[in-house]
Amino acid sequence: MKKILFISGSFRRDSFNTQLLHYAAEYLSDFDCSFLDYRDVPLLNQDEEFPAPDAVKRVRHQTAQADALWIGSPEYNHSLSGGLKNLLDWLSRPVQPDDYSTAVIRGKLAAISSAAGSSAGSFSLDSLSQLLEMLSCTVVESRTMINLGSRFSEKKLVLAEDEKLALAGECARLRSLL
Ligand SMILES: Cc1cc2nc3c(=O)[nH]c(=O)nc-3n(C[C@H](O)[C@H](O)[C@H](O)COP(=O)(O)O)c2cc1C
Repeated sequence: MKKILFISGSFRRDSFNTQLLHYAAEYLSDFDCSFLDYRDVPLLNQDEEFPAPDAVKRVRHQTAQADALWIGSPEYNHSLSGGLKNLLDWLSRPVQPDDYSTAVIRGKLAAISSAAGSSAGSFSLDSLSQLLEMLSCTVVESRTMINLGSRFSEKKLVLAEDEKLALAGECARLRSLL
């Protein structure tokens, strides 16, 4: 069974981006879906890359095992969250010194989504897709973008019909590429 690894860029307990990923995982429940917990990954420091910290070895292993990633990115100041950027930087680094072909994120298939304010996460998704393309990932063209609007104060993310359709469309696109 093909594996999809979901990565949320928000550590917030009631994160809308994490909830959106869970909706996607429901549509894709016939795949082996799991969520990456990377809260223990330290800030990248090139002095501490070889050997890599245990938490980095673990997230690299989970990433390497996945056939596809689905990254849900919040928008922090028109960009990615710091935690997500730090994770992607670790995943972009070679496992063997100087051999960039050993970087586990290289060449991965990746779907992306965002739940944010009035931009609906367009700035963070532009940065994210640029970063992923730089790492030779195949980024699914359709992206789910949610303008949270008046839902910011709510705990549970309830999707509108057009948002459900967009998410289902992206799931179908990812499915066709797996
Ligand atoms: C540091 C910070 C910067 C933010 N900057 C933006 C922004 O540039 N654009 C936007 O739409 N929302 C911005 N927001 C609001 C987030 O989109 C909002 O908090 C969202 O719910 C975060 O995602 P989450 O629910 O998955 O945690 C910002 C929030 C924080 C904490």
